[in-house]
Amino acid sequence: MGDDDIIEVKDLEHAFNDVEAVRGISFSVRRGEIFSFLGPNGAGKSTTINILTTLLPIQRGAVQVAGYDLAREPERVRESIGIVFQDEVLDRDLTVWETMEFHGRLYSIPRDERRRRIDGMLAVVELEAKRDVRTKNLSGGMKRRLEIARGLMTRPEVLFLDEPTQGLDPQTRLRMWDYIRQVNAAGTTIFLTTHYMDEADMLSDRISIIDHGRIVITGTPEELKNTLGKDVIYLETGDDAKAREALRGVLEIRSITESPRGLSITISSDGSHCLPGIVERVRDAGIEIMSVNLKKPTMDDVFVHYTGKELRDTGA
Ligand SMILES: Nc1ncnc2c1ncn2[C@@H]1O[C@H](COP(=O)(O)OP(=O)(O)O)[C@@H](O)[C@H]1O
Ligand SMILES: [Mg+2]
Repeated sequence: MGDDDIIEVKDLEHAFNDVEAVRGISFSVRRGEIFSFLGPNGAGKSTTINILTTLLPIQRGAVQVAGYDLAREPERVRESIGIVFQDEVLDRDLTVWETMEFHGRLYSIPRDERRRRIDGMLAVVELEAKRDVRTKNLSGGMKRRLEIARGLMTRPEVLFLDEPTQGLDPQTRLRMWDYIRQVNAAGTTIFLTTHYMDEADMLSDRISIIDHGRIVITGTPEELKNTLGKDVIYLETGDDAKAREALRGVLEIRSITESPRGLSITISSDGSHCLPGIVERVRDAGIEIMSVNLKKPTMDDVFVHYTGKELRDTGA
């Protein structure tokens, strides 16, 4: 385990009877980062989170969280983490404040400290005005925020969030991302799972794409997009045929086609690095350039490339 790793997972496997939910995954999470598991439904995300948070027993493999071995010191691990489950777990008849108070007592946080933390956390998630409202009367987004505030009450080193924005409207999702970033900026490592590609892209320092219980690739959002080698440069020139001629032999160019928007040039590496050279070449050949556009693959493209989800959905 590297010094800066707060979670280390080695060869983790988990089966529910004959369903192999997790099939030998290894990864580590660095202290202070936002790390995401991105994968389709049934990929094994919740199973992994449930093992890491001690809710499921560890069947095979080795896990360390916050310096503790999961199999040997599960209670130590539990003290170091906060969890927000995929499915809402709130007592419907407790108020917002009572929910926090109850949790603080459960963890034996002394009274004054408890009250301070409740006020502080409710401020972070902007629920102070709702403190006396019963949870059954909160909106979906407010419930999630309350669960995050509760998960953070024990000042965990790592906060686990299983599909934190599932079912929320787009605006509430954006705000939820802000809360998550805020919590992270205050020093908490975040491990989250999501099936939303934009969410993983916007929030994460690093992402593992998981499918069928296996990790298919890990990297920063940029790294993942660059692995596709499918950046496209659109070039509008005064003479497309001549420009095409001028670009002959450029190593990074995979193909050039003429389109209504000018030349469409597919790049086999990072397009942003090739762009200046390509523009220069065309200019040097005395050809006018009217517009330049770079389109990089999106996280959707990455996801489809590595999971083939689209094909599978159409039964192919
Ligand atoms: N308690 C359980 N009993 C039996 N099978 C389960 C159970 N929990 C999950 N599974 C199965 O394990 C696989 C992974 O599920 P899960 O970890 O919930 O995936 P995800 O969170 O990525 O959607 C799925 O095939 C799911 O049906
Ligand atoms: Mg899940």
